[in-house]
Amino acid sequence: MRRALLLGSTGQLGTSLLRARWPQGWEPVVAPLDVYDMALPERLEGQVAEARPDAVLNAAAYTAVDKAESEPELAERINAAAPAALARVAAKLCIPLLHVSTDYVFDGELEGREYKEDDPVAPLSVYGRTKESGERAVRTAPKHFIIRTSWVYSATGANFLKTMLRLGRDRAELRVVSDQLGRPTEAFELARVMLSLLSFAKDDAYGTYHYAGGKALSWHAFAEAIFACAARHGYRAPRVVPIATHEYPTAAVRPKNSRLDGSKLLARFGIKQHDFDGPLERCVTELLKEQS
Ligand SMILES: NC(=O)c1ccc[n+]([C@@H]2O[C@H](COP(=O)([O-])OP(=O)(O)OC[C@H]3O[C@@H](n4cnc5c(N)ncnc54)[C@H](OP(=O)(O)O)[C@@H]3O)[C@@H](O)[C@H]2O)c1
Repeated sequence: MRRALLLGSTGQLGTSLLRARWPQGWEPVVAPLDVYDMALPERLEGQVAEARPDAVLNAAAYTAVDKAESEPELAERINAAAPAALARVAAKLCIPLLHVSTDYVFDGELEGREYKEDDPVAPLSVYGRTKESGERAVRTAPKHFIIRTSWVYSATGANFLKTMLRLGRDRAELRVVSDQLGRPTEAFELARVMLSLLSFAKDDAYGTYHYAGGKALSWHAFAEAIFACAARHGYRAPRVVPIATHEYPTAAVRPKNSRLDGSKLLARFGIKQHDFDGPLERCVTELLKEQS
């Protein structure tokens, strides 16, 4: 069996990667956080070299977008310096490195269409800047995949879906931003795509790709879809009031247009953006079952 070292196995994507079916001939090897600490990138290269994996999957990141504004050095270590160390060791071992990035590398000012892989990056936040710097470092490894994704949710971890269902229990009304557009992406579907790319790993396949869910909508419309789904399971949904971004100030500035165009992945590998309703239904059902 070929061994893929998995960093970030406890996160939304990491948990899903461990639950998903792996390509034939591959098995995951969990890189425990207490040993492989991405905040200590200077150790990472030696640690990975010693483990001698056949591939590295990086699902670890500093993902607290607002908190990153006050912890830029830590975010830089985890999102940029650590991927740079992974890229160096992947290049030395001549193995594939699969890395995940974000819609927040763009400024969201593009009008009338979705972002393609080669559109110019212009991050607005510390998180976006550190992730963009991580991308550049990963590109120095000849055998790299960078998968940019957006608005990730799952039944585990911290995400918008879970926040909505938690707040909606106690409040009759929620105010949700309606002028930022994106594509919610379910973590298990993303994990499946990442593992497909592992099975496609060969010289003409490497590069940067966009993968996100199959429906573009606002946070407000996403909240309404979440509550409509939950209501079918007997959840008493609050009223969801649309507001503008300036009415909900946050430490980090977010792009207005976060929509990622997935056509390159479709053209190269036949991988389609996933259906919106099925994965949402699956996560809402799982969460409501846990809470009942
Ligand atoms: N969440 C989103 O909406 C979103 C959107 C676009 C792109 N992405 C990207 O998608 C990828 C996966 O995100 P996610 O939502 O699965 O993130 P997540 O749930 O926040 O998980 C992050 C993972 O990184 C680990 N981690 C954090 N600090 C670490 C450190 N110092 N050393 C080693 N591991 C560390 C976490 O460990 P602990 O569990 O111990 O903290 C966790 O396993 C990331 O690259 C992220 O930037 C996410």
